[in-house]
Formats: sequence, C-alpha cells, structure tokens
Amino acid sequence: MALKRIAVLTTGGDAPGMNAAIRAVVRSAVNNKLEVVGVFRGYWGLINEELKLLDHRSVSGIINQGGTILKTVRCPEFQTEQGQKRAFQTLKKNSIDGIIVIGGNGSFRGAHEFYSKYKVPCIGIPASIDNDINGIEATIGADTAINTALAAIDNIRDTATSMERIFIVEVMGRDSGYIALRVALTGGCEDVIIPERKLDFEALCDDIVNGNMRGKVSWIVVVAEGAGSASEIAKKITELTSLETRAVVLGHIQRGGRPTAFSRDLALNLGKAAVDCLLKGETDKAVGLNNGKIITVDLSVAITKKELDVDHLCDLIKALT
Ligand code: F6P
Repeated sequence: MALKRIAVLTTGGDAPGMNAAIRAVVRSAVNNKLEVVGVFRGYWGLINEELKLLDHRSVSGIINQGGTILKTVRCPEFQTEQGQKRAFQTLKKNSIDGIIVIGGNGSFRGAHEFYSKYKVPCIGIPASIDNDINGIEATIGADTAINTALAAIDNIRDTATSMERIFIVEVMGRDSGYIALRVALTGGCEDVIIPERKLDFEALCDDIVNGNMRGKVSWIVVVAEGAGSASEIAKKITELTSLETRAVVLGHIQRGGRPTAFSRDLALNLGKAAVDCLLKGETDKAVGLNNGKIITVDLSVAITKKELDVDHLCDLIKALT
C-alpha cells in the first residue's frame, strides 16, 4: 500500500534540535507528495486526537529554536492497553499510515511496543540530551546540552579559582553519566561522579585534601543527577575535610537554547532519512549516525542499554588532573 499521510510527534524530554528535525520531516515528506500531520504533546496527542496538518510554511523560522513547536509530555497512559488502543483508533480515523517519533529511550520503547501490537509503520529519530540510544553515536540535542553545561562550568571555574573553593556541579542524567563525563573532561574538571560507577567517597576526599596540601586549592567535581545530589555531596565533603565547598545545580537550562550546528546538522539529516525509510517500507527502526554515515538500527536494539566507555573517560579525567 502506497504511503499517503504520515504523522510526526515529539515525546519525552525536549532536546535542542527537535524543531530542526520536525522541519526536515515535514519538508522532505511534502516534497515527496506526502501529507504530514503534526501530533501535539507526543503520545498524549495521539490518544486525545490533538492533530494539525503541517505544510512547508508551518515549519518556517524554527531551525534555530530550542524546544519543540509540537510540545511534548511524558505520557504514562500510552503504556496501558487502553491508551495504545485509543492511539491506534486516532491513526485509523485520520487515515495515517506511518509515524515518525522524535524522542529518547523511553519514547522508543513506547514506539516499539506499539508497533509490535498494531503494526503501524514507525521510524524513530533519536533526540535526547542524554545520548541514551544504543547502536548510534549521537542523539539530537546532546551536543547542545554539553556546550551549555560547559559554558556554565567555565564561569564557575573563574570564581572557584579566584576564591579557592571546591564546587560540586550537578548536571542532568538520571540514568546516564554521559553529560557528566563529557563535561568533566572538556571542562578540565578534577573528578566526576556518575550512576555507572560506585563512588569511593573517602578516596575523593583524600584526593581533595592531598591536592590542597600540594597547593591545588580549587576543585570542580561534576555529578550526574542520578548519582547523587550536589548539595548533599558538598555538605559531606565539608564535614570530612573542613574545606569550603559550594553546590550548583545546572538543571533544565541544559535542555533549552539554540541548537549547535552539530545538533541541527544531525536533526536535518535524520529527519530526511526517517521519511526515506518510511517511503522504502522500513519500520520498527531508528535512524542514526555511525562512523559518519546515516544508518538504521532496530528499535529493539536501540532501546537496550547503551554502554559508555566509562573506564577510559574516568581514567582520562584523572590522568589530566
Ligand atoms: O530528557 C532527559 C532528561 O533531561 C534527563 O537528563 C533528566 O533526568 C530528565 O530528563 C528530567 O526530566 P523532567 O524534565 O521530566 O523532570
């Protein structure tokens, strides 16, 4: 059956570059004579039939904007049989014969489960600041988030050096230390605490005290939110070392802002690739970048745990301290 009308939605945590991906999907689909329906608020909009036909002009002027014009929510209802059934009814009622899901790991889990039950052709475009999709190198938005966090760390470095203090800086990443590792390395930070590695708190305090005795009096330790709270860690360090420590939580500023050239480039390439996949009859896959090439990965693989080269990165950070 020839494809006539597809839907596009963004779901889960927003990521800078989602808008560029929507633009690429809409324009390449329309250029291939497809109709494109924008679904508002992700899976919630599928369940509640919040749809709007999109054309070339609907996606003008958004390439440089963070966030998503389609809005996004986390939608527990889509994990239920009833929610999925209602989503399927919306697709049928509106003659939608393919879906493009722009989101991260949780969003792809939903897409994979929905496809296995209802067999509506579906392609995922990886977009999440966490870079948590297996089988591909980068998700849309991760590079922007890292650069945003890095700019903040550079500012913190100025005051940390001037006032000779220890800073614990909390970055995003509930289940993944990806942002923390990349920011700690590129920000020249002294240590990193991530969910993938058990923290040896005494060793960290020993390092700080020994460094202090050698004249290294300012430290920046990056902690991923899933590995602990910056304020609690700072408090414990002060208790154990008697050194003055400050905590900073960068929070949601990492999710917003103008996408970097890399995030946009990736979004535009993957947006077009996703439409091409649907046109070729591919389904239940994610598009992604690997060794400079656009590839596809089965959603069943994309949702499995992405292993980071934690040992290498941690060793590198320590070796350069
Ligand atoms: O989108 C990924 C992410 O930013 C994680 O890094 C973070 O743990 C989570 O979302 C926060 O989600 P919310 O904005 O729903 O609190």
